[in-house]
Amino acid sequence: MHTAVVFYFSGTGNTWWVADRIIRRLDMSNINATAVSVDTVTPKKADWWIKTADLVLFGWPVYGSDLPEPMKRFLGALPKLEKSKHVHVFCTQMGFSGDGAWLAHQWLAEKGLIIDTAQHFTMPSNMSMMRGFFGTPDENRVKKIMASAETQVDGYVERLLTNTARIQGRFSAMLGMLQRVPFRLYRKKARRLFNADAALCTRCGLCESLCPMRNITIKDAPEFADRCAFCLRCYSFCPANAIAYKGRIRDAAKYGKPYSVPDKRFKPLLLIKQI
Ligand SMILES: Cc1cc2nc3c(=O)[nH]c(=O)nc-3n(C[C@H](O)[C@H](O)[C@H](O)COP(=O)(O)O)c2cc1C
Repeated sequence: MHTAVVFYFSGTGNTWWVADRIIRRLDMSNINATAVSVDTVTPKKADWWIKTADLVLFGWPVYGSDLPEPMKRFLGALPKLEKSKHVHVFCTQMGFSGDGAWLAHQWLAEKGLIIDTAQHFTMPSNMSMMRGFFGTPDENRVKKIMASAETQVDGYVERLLTNTARIQGRFSAMLGMLQRVPFRLYRKKARRLFNADAALCTRCGLCESLCPMRNITIKDAPEFADRCAFCLRCYSFCPANAIAYKGRIRDAAKYGKPYSVPDKRFKPLLLIKQI
């Protein structure tokens, strides 16, 4: 095995972190590995990577045990392979995602891609607009989760290289559905859930550039159309804290710090940087 490619979508950096650690570990085994944000690659270029790489992986954060819309769109736009290829999928989650990774077999099979292994990685919750169990944990807890994530990823890469990785969550479709069905309904309301405070907004344009759905247009303040994927980039990375969820702006003292993966190398623009 000589080359590998990891296609990933990431809202707030967790999945970027996992993809990055996977390629670093593969590099250590002399495999030339590249992580590619799906925001930055055309279907034609992705097709080329898929055909030429020895090892192909896809990763995303689970949203209500579902794939994020940008990942579905990316998979949907891939050309169908003439000769099928075996691939690996993973997702990042805060705790539970049923069949969150395996679920992609529906989209991948249509493109001639067969899932060999599926893996769930537990990362800190990025839902910094929520309090309590579902919200972002405190700093100490985040450190513990990240330490365990390092072990999880390293073990996974080891299993990939020794052909001992397996399909996680394959028989958890019912449990996944319990989260997926209500989440899909809730997501439809997302247009009404996020808005921007015109008085705070500096019209820097970062939210518009980062939005994977082209759902934001800056006028007096950012205006939202109805394609929100719920990735939380605008909410988490607005430098002026001007984006509100359910009318509440991001008040760090009241709602905790906005989430971004605790790795100093992470910058939101990495997610949309053309390679
Ligand atoms: C809208 C939304 C829905 C989520 N649903 C789930 C879920 O069903 N199960 C879970 O364990 N984590 C869930 N999470 C947590 C994220 O999947 C998790 O924190 C992920 O690592 C974030 O990755 P990212 O930083 O790459 O976007 C959800 C997060 C968001 C924003």
